[in-house]
Amino acid sequence: MLSIEHLTASVAKKRILDDISYSFDSGKTYAILGPNGSGKSTLASIIMGHPDFTLARTSKLLWNGKNIKSLSPDKRALLGLSMTFQNPLTLSGVSVRDLLRSALEKKYDVFALYQKIQAAAKSLHIKDELLSRSLNDGFSGGEKKKLEALQIALIEPKFVLFDEIDTGVDVDALKTITLFLKRSLPKESALVFITHSAKLLKYMRPDEVLVIKNGRLVASGGPALAAAIEKNGFSDL
Ligand SMILES: Nc1ncnc2c1ncn2[C@@H]1O[C@H](COP(=O)(O)OP(=O)(O)OP(=O)(O)O)[C@@H](O)[C@H]1O
Ligand SMILES: [Mg+2]
Repeated sequence: MLSIEHLTASVAKKRILDDISYSFDSGKTYAILGPNGSGKSTLASIIMGHPDFTLARTSKLLWNGKNIKSLSPDKRALLGLSMTFQNPLTLSGVSVRDLLRSALEKKYDVFALYQKIQAAAKSLHIKDELLSRSLNDGFSGGEKKKLEALQIALIEPKFVLFDEIDTGVDVDALKTITLFLKRSLPKESALVFITHSAKLLKYMRPDEVLVIKNGRLVASGGPALAAAIEKNGFSDL
């Protein structure tokens, strides 16, 4: 589905990612682990087409075999790629209802969309007033992450990167969010969780675990790899 080939990226002449190659398949769940500052969020930004990063000429991002390296983020989103943010941005004057209406007006009529948003908000225990307020403006950390989960569930992307959907989220909310995502997203979607949370891994049961350290993909493997990191940290890798 999405193949990364020899991804090397820099910003302001500083190399952040170094020769990363990996293929993600549809219907699978992935975890990306790694120390702080190792390049995980940068990888997510680059997959979505953030303009600040310069990619090496030899780097390729293939979506079902087609190189999407020069596509803008909106074009990538239309193909079915999406992400949630480690630090969700505030949108003054735009509520989540407004945002989803403009994103999904061709997919659902106004009433059907309203009902879908209400149902998702209920499952996530999101208070009604948050749906009409400016998105993330004065929201608590956990409220922001719940709204990220709600948006992804309605957009139903084919490939999603969740950048620390767990941070700032209490234990009950983490369970609510992960079970909700499992239930709501299409079975054929590829889900990629960037996380530091062993609890999230327990709920999401990734098929594959990737470890990024100093901008390099230093290890990949099954769930046992996450268990070994939980026990021994990253220093052995
Ligand atoms: N626009 C930028 N300008 C300069 N340096 C940047 C920029 N964006 C990212 N970096 C640097 O790239 C490195 C990787 O950052 P990134 O946010 O990808 O780390 P991370 O693995 O997501 O860490 P964390 O687990 O703390 O979220 C960091 O040293 C960061 O300071
Ligand atoms: Mg990060």
